[in-house]
Amino acid sequence: NTSTDDFVIDNEVIQSIFKIRQDFAHKGTYGKSIIVGGSYGKIGAVVLATKSALRTGSGLTFSLAPNCGYEILQTSVPEAMFIKGGENNIRQIKEQENSVYGIGPGLGTGKDTEKALLEFLKDNHSPLILDADALNIISENKDYVKLIPKKSIITPHPKEFERLFGKTEDSFERLDLAKTKAKELEIYIVLKDHHTQIITSEGKVFYNITGNSGLAKGGSGDILTGIITSLLAQKYSEEEAAVLGVWLHGKAADFAAEKFSKEAMQPTDVINELGNVFLYLN
Ligand code: APR
Ligand code: MG
Repeated sequence: NTSTDDFVIDNEVIQSIFKIRQDFAHKGTYGKSIIVGGSYGKIGAVVLATKSALRTGSGLTFSLAPNCGYEILQTSVPEAMFIKGGENNIRQIKEQENSVYGIGPGLGTGKDTEKALLEFLKDNHSPLILDADALNIISENKDYVKLIPKKSIITPHPKEFERLFGKTEDSFERLDLAKTKAKELEIYIVLKDHHTQIITSEGKVFYNITGNSGLAKGGSGDILTGIITSLLAQKYSEEEAAVLGVWLHGKAADFAAEKFSKEAMQPTDVINELGNVFLYLN
């Protein structure tokens, strides 16, 4: 049941999107990625997303996390700068020029966090990627969904999608609902699954065929958030960043599975294989 607006993400699609890094680039050329998330016991989610943004080529990379994440982040990801989010939650998300925000990994859904997120959404910052607990907060009230800025990319797994937009009978019905919502809200939906689908604000659908069940582990989704944030910071369009990002994530996972097995591979191995994927592309 495919239409002319349906595409499989093959090597040709990827080569048409991927841009070779410029010789005369400086760190300003490749944008600012700001990963917003983390809460006590879930700082690891921000570590993974931040490392992924770095390994994807972002010029400057920041982590905005609660104070309890300070030493963890500065030690495990010294390349990234830390922005203080408050004692136990993200108190404020400060505007930074020329920057892309990836919000949600390990964020938590506390009341203060909810308030800060809603205020940030009202600023209509673009480009923006929303994942995990950012989506869970938005799911709590029907009116919150309307606050998602146009052109944002959201990356729900099936359960998060259901919380946001309601129950569907099967994956076909889910895809139809995703098309309706992507058009209605003018956003990009990355429907994460074994074969992840990217639905554009115009209702185009891209099917990804990289990736494997070695990704069925906590932390895999945080990597995707970091990758897509980084690509947006490097001025790929929303459609390009979502399509290339999902493909890169899956391809790195396929390389990691070859080396370590689907069982043993860890999200960190996937991040470390991103380099080999870029070598493959270049
Ligand atoms: N085959 C291929 N890809 C897979 C498979 C599979 N069998 N299983 C998972 N993946 C991929 C998905 O396509 C997605 O890109 O791994 C990623 C999993 O992302 P999430 O479901 O968001 O998982 P996770 O990293 O655990 O999320 C971390 O976000 O959703 C919240 O509650 C969750 O706090 C947790 C955090
Ligand atoms: Mg997730």
